[in-house]
Amino acid sequence: MKKVYLETFGCQMNVSDTERVATQLESNNYEIVPNEEAADIVLINTCSVREKAEHKLYTRVGQVRNSGGKKPIIGVLGCVAQLEGETLFKKTQGVDFVLGTQAVGRVTSIIERVLEGQKQISDLGVREENYDWNTLETQRHSPFVAFVPIIEGCNKFCTYCIVPFSRGREKSLPADVVIRQVKNLRNEGVQEVHLIGQNVNSYRPQTVSGLEGFTGATPFSKLLRAVAATGIPRIKFNTSFPRDFHPDIVDAINENENLCNWVHLPVQSGSDRILKAMRRGHTIENYLQRVDKIKSSKRKISLTTDIIVGFPDETQEDFADTVKLVEYCEYDSAYIFKYSPRFGTPAAEMQDTLTDVEKTNRFIALENVQKRNQTKSLKSFENSTVKVLAERKSNKPADNFFGHTTCHKIVNFVSSKDVLGKIVDVKITEAKSNTLFGIIC
Ligand code: SAH
Ligand code: SF4
Ligand code: F3S
Repeated sequence: MKKVYLETFGCQMNVSDTERVATQLESNNYEIVPNEEAADIVLINTCSVREKAEHKLYTRVGQVRNSGGKKPIIGVLGCVAQLEGETLFKKTQGVDFVLGTQAVGRVTSIIERVLEGQKQISDLGVREENYDWNTLETQRHSPFVAFVPIIEGCNKFCTYCIVPFSRGREKSLPADVVIRQVKNLRNEGVQEVHLIGQNVNSYRPQTVSGLEGFTGATPFSKLLRAVAATGIPRIKFNTSFPRDFHPDIVDAINENENLCNWVHLPVQSGSDRILKAMRRGHTIENYLQRVDKIKSSKRKISLTTDIIVGFPDETQEDFADTVKLVEYCEYDSAYIFKYSPRFGTPAAEMQDTLTDVEKTNRFIALENVQKRNQTKSLKSFENSTVKVLAERKSNKPADNFFGHTTCHKIVNFVSSKDVLGKIVDVKITEAKSNTLFGIIC
């Protein structure tokens, strides 16, 4: 039995693809192994969103190739694979095959072709050809938490972003398929599903099948109510695209206890001038309308975001606007990135007068503002009781558990009873950096 080691970079779409690849390989008599030493085949699922992410691939291929042990077959999957195709064979030595995001359903057959002796093959095909979302049971990164893709790809073409090129156009999964998957997961003991996609709230299935009888201003809010009706204890969803964020999503959360109180709403910049150059399709004013709706909801909803600093020609004033926005929104957490030009995107052609030092300074300044807010928000949890899904046991000490709150904060807590896989009440005793610490009630 051939042993396969899978390594994943990038977003949850990649994690989800890796889970499907693992399932497909296991059902074809491959063994998935936890490290590369014993592997006959190493698969690297890559990300291209920033230059640093892409470089991880080249570093890893070099390490695997030169590790000294047996020389495994190396396959490159994911977004870099889709974008580069055969050029990867020239860019880095030792890659045996390239399998794009649109062809990932053919992983077994491409490995077989390599095992038969074909060299340097690339498949960037069309996903629909043989990727059966209906029946494929997937592996999961946790027995209690599952990712369920509801929409793939992206049609937005923000000027800095490579994703529409690496993932193709938006394709929504039929609602009845999503609902069936969630019901199956619930029956298997999964406590929490994450509905995932580049922009989940742009969800537009081709038929209403599965959504009949559910109210909602958009197909996405109908889907939220339909998934809530399955009775699965927790539903989270991300990422939400601000332009398509209908206030009805907040209403759906308020109506359904199992729709978790967390919204990830990437703003990217606090300056209308930069948002326009990014072609985000929203202004600060209409972004803040959404934020105000979220903040004024009956249930306290945690708000997180993504921000890019140092977009081409971002002025001090533009940056000051971003700082102002971050202060106003009091995000529970924010992923802040330094702008990274991606070849082939319109922003990469824009005049960029900012020095790297300046970009770094802005990055650090914004991180500090955010950290201050974040600490304040975490501290407010001290002495309160929260519901936590015990996702795994810590290695040491043995009575420690790790999990998340409904608003997606990380919690480490102590319990003498084995509560693995259960949602339990935890009294928070301390908030430190990004984590809450507590004791089971
Ligand atoms: N679809 C989501 C984001 C997906 S990519 C949205 O539109 O909100 C995840 C994050 O990577 C983005 O939100 C953005 O902040 C960051 N990102 C994308 N391209 C980037 C680039 N060229 N340089 C730096 N950060 C980038
Ligand atoms: Fe990229 Fe914009 Fe699409 Fe998000 S919405 S994936 S940032 S193009
Ligand atoms: Fe990266 Fe591709 Fe996701 S570029 S962020 S792995 S869609």
